[in-house]
Amino acid sequence: MKTFNNKSELKDYINAQREQGQTIGFVPTMGALHKGHLSLVNFGLEDNSVVVVSVFVNPTQFNNSEDLKKYPRTLDRDVELLQSVSEKKIVVYAPSVNDIYEGKTISEHFTFGGLEHEMEGAFRPGHFDGVGTIVKRLLEIVNPDKAYFGEKDFQQLQIVKKMIELKNIPTEIIGCPIFRANDGLAMSSRNERLNSEYREASPFIYKTLKYAKEKFGTKSAKVVTDWVKKQYKKHPLLELEYFLIADVDTLKPVKRKSTKKTYRAFIAVYANDIRLIDNIALN
Ligand code: PAJ
Repeated sequence: MKTFNNKSELKDYINAQREQGQTIGFVPTMGALHKGHLSLVNFGLEDNSVVVVSVFVNPTQFNNSEDLKKYPRTLDRDVELLQSVSEKKIVVYAPSVNDIYEGKTISEHFTFGGLEHEMEGAFRPGHFDGVGTIVKRLLEIVNPDKAYFGEKDFQQLQIVKKMIELKNIPTEIIGCPIFRANDGLAMSSRNERLNSEYREASPFIYKTLKYAKEKFGTKSAKVVTDWVKKQYKKHPLLELEYFLIADVDTLKPVKRKSTKKTYRAFIAVYANDIRLIDNIALN
């Protein structure tokens, strides 16, 4: 499998592929790959002749230095996993911090029409400036026809779509469904850090989302939100950071339900010191 650590070598390789008429798909990741990531890669393989997968733990999007330090780094295993999907059509780009940031590990500042202030933006200051910075740089390097992002990080997906529009980036952004473990827990690289007690407790998150969806059919957003908050107050292990129901376009919390709008419920929960997020389409 072709693996690059250096952006100019990767660019040369991609340019040569393009000259042969190949289309390029791109899946950016922070590694510690799981089936959720691989589902994005498989969507990429359906649409493109080559799929570039980047593996880079981006320091500028972490607002918590402990989280950055503890983020799992498993490049050899990641490459093996990708190899098992396709030896020939996948290319890995695993750069150093310096290859990306060239000595200046700081974020650009972005405005994404207000999307950046909601939910993850409110609870993780600076996070989306870091995400915008890295995604923009990676898209400049890879210049893909299509790039694949998971609905697991729905706010990130909406922000990336907004950035493409605001910066006139010629890549199509494809949103892909959330891949879950059999017990419903959304796959995440952070799940590896859960001990067995917390891992067993965590499917509660998807369970409450599913109940919330059912209740939202007949009840107001406030009633549903209060109900979810009550469930977590009673829970011995999981601590709710936020739960809210928002309009998918603005990501603003719903005040009055409208049949013309599309809503999702969003949740962030602490399982010990591990922060888990999830979301569900409501209508
Ligand atoms: P990471 O958390 O590694 O996720 C990489 C991509 O995989 C994201 O688009 C994410 O939404 C998607 N993904 C993760 N878990 C998923 C699941 N269970 N089902 C479907 N898709 C899933 O998101 C990032 O990295 C970074 O912010 C990045 C975009 C790479 C920028 O650094």
